[in-house]
Amino acid sequence: MNDFETRDNKEEIKRQSDYLSLLTEVVKGLKQRKNRDITACVETFGCQMNARDSEKISGILKSAGFVLIEDENADLTVYNTCSVRDNANQKVYGRLGRLSVFKKNNPDMKIVMCGCMTQEECVIDKICHSYSFVDLIFGTHNIYRLAEYLYYVYEGIENVKFDDSDENIVKRGKTIVSRWEETKVICEHLPVDRKFPYKSGVNIMFGCNNFCTYCIVPYVRGRERSREADEIIDEIKALVDDGVIEVMLLGQNVNSYGKNLENPISFSELLKRVEQIEGLSRIRFMTSHPKDLSDELIETIKNSNKICHHIHLPLQSGSSRILKKMNRVYDKEKYLDLALKIKREIPDISITTDIIVGFPGETKEDVDDTIDVIKKVGFDNAFTFIYSVRTGTPAAKMEQLDEEFVKEQFDRVLECVQETAREQVKKIQGKVLPVLCEEVNKQDENLITGRLENNTIVHFKGSRDLIGKIVNVRCDECRGFYYLGEIVE
Ligand code: SAH
Ligand code: SF4
Ligand code: F3S
Repeated sequence: MNDFETRDNKEEIKRQSDYLSLLTEVVKGLKQRKNRDITACVETFGCQMNARDSEKISGILKSAGFVLIEDENADLTVYNTCSVRDNANQKVYGRLGRLSVFKKNNPDMKIVMCGCMTQEECVIDKICHSYSFVDLIFGTHNIYRLAEYLYYVYEGIENVKFDDSDENIVKRGKTIVSRWEETKVICEHLPVDRKFPYKSGVNIMFGCNNFCTYCIVPYVRGRERSREADEIIDEIKALVDDGVIEVMLLGQNVNSYGKNLENPISFSELLKRVEQIEGLSRIRFMTSHPKDLSDELIETIKNSNKICHHIHLPLQSGSSRILKKMNRVYDKEKYLDLALKIKREIPDISITTDIIVGFPGETKEDVDDTIDVIKKVGFDNAFTFIYSVRTGTPAAKMEQLDEEFVKEQFDRVLECVQETAREQVKKIQGKVLPVLCEEVNKQDENLITGRLENNTIVHFKGSRDLIGKIVNVRCDECRGFYYLGEIVE
């Protein structure tokens, strides 16, 4: 056990707020010296969980006095990385090159890397070797210690007297590195800077125990840990008090929420408690693993006024043979039964999914099975990915497929997905439905972009002051995945 795991949450929060005060002094000093604001930029490369982590990072930076900007040419730039597929990693390496140019022009600039990629030892080696201008690297488990680490970065680690030794912080060349293999700590209650005033992600659990054979997430996010229901409810109440009307409950497999708590509680029970929170209008959750989705959950969604009629239910493959090799613990029939049961019970629900094409050993016939499931379920949207080898996962050791063949199969799946989704989305044409107004349209500032309960995007004429409100919109014109509509009083 590490020293930090013996400290309880309260002690750690106190310790971090002390470091936050120290860092605030540093930023103040810099501001005086430069006679201008000290800026910071946080870039998110990954999923909703990664985005939520970025809000925590931004929260700490803002509290320390940094002015947050969207330009990476800042005094402090943080890359919060993702390693789910190789192209995510490559994107980060490409962008790091550009950062080094900014740093040449502003030698005081600090560059920080964190997130899922930097949870991998081989990535840390590569950065310390080839991108030695990076000042600080940490992973996914120790974000809440950012103020402390930055204090070391600015003051020079040699000059800081540790109040307690932490063998997990090392200096490699010029880079300070702190990577934790695993953690049992859930440290919340530090400042958070939300991207949207009216909606927020809420972590209900961390990590993953499923070890799908293609997936890096369990290795970079650690074992599954659920937060106490009371903690989650308190956080959502505080968010609602702060203007939030929609929450997205986040976990890699929300259906197994609460099973390992001292007083076990099911995900459905948690949802029922969240539903009771006054002032909250919409509840979403992500992601549901098909193997654990209970009848109780379907019933809960059906009877709820707040839980949105949208389930993201990753299929990955429609072939039972491939699903077995992926260690998904369900087969084609079980998935179909489940998806069709959900649709039967909640007819207006939209089901979206993730699909991987090109898993080792996948044949044309296996892909036919995937296409068969897509057609039978009728997904409203599907994120289709080409399988990417992740070093250290069991599938990486399997014989890989020919790239050309995979590309052909991918195109077949994509075509089917697009066709099915178009048909699905079209079904609500002409209906008047509640829309949460999210932002001013990026192309046309006379339009507002909002989201239906089933997650479909709608653009309609409206003014900026509607943002954060729920209004009734008639879905007039289906444009593939989105609608053009009109507000109906
Ligand atoms: N916990 C979620 C998925 C999180 S990762 C679940 O089990 O459903 C998001 C998606 O990335 C996965 O659903 C999968 O489709 C895709 N993915 C994960 N590893 C991948 C890999 N090695 N290659 C390609 N896609 C991958
Ligand atoms: Fe990855 Fe599977 Fe865990 Fe999802 S459930 S994060 S795909 S290992
Ligand atoms: Fe990527 Fe990590 Fe999310 S690998 S998908 S950022 S959990």
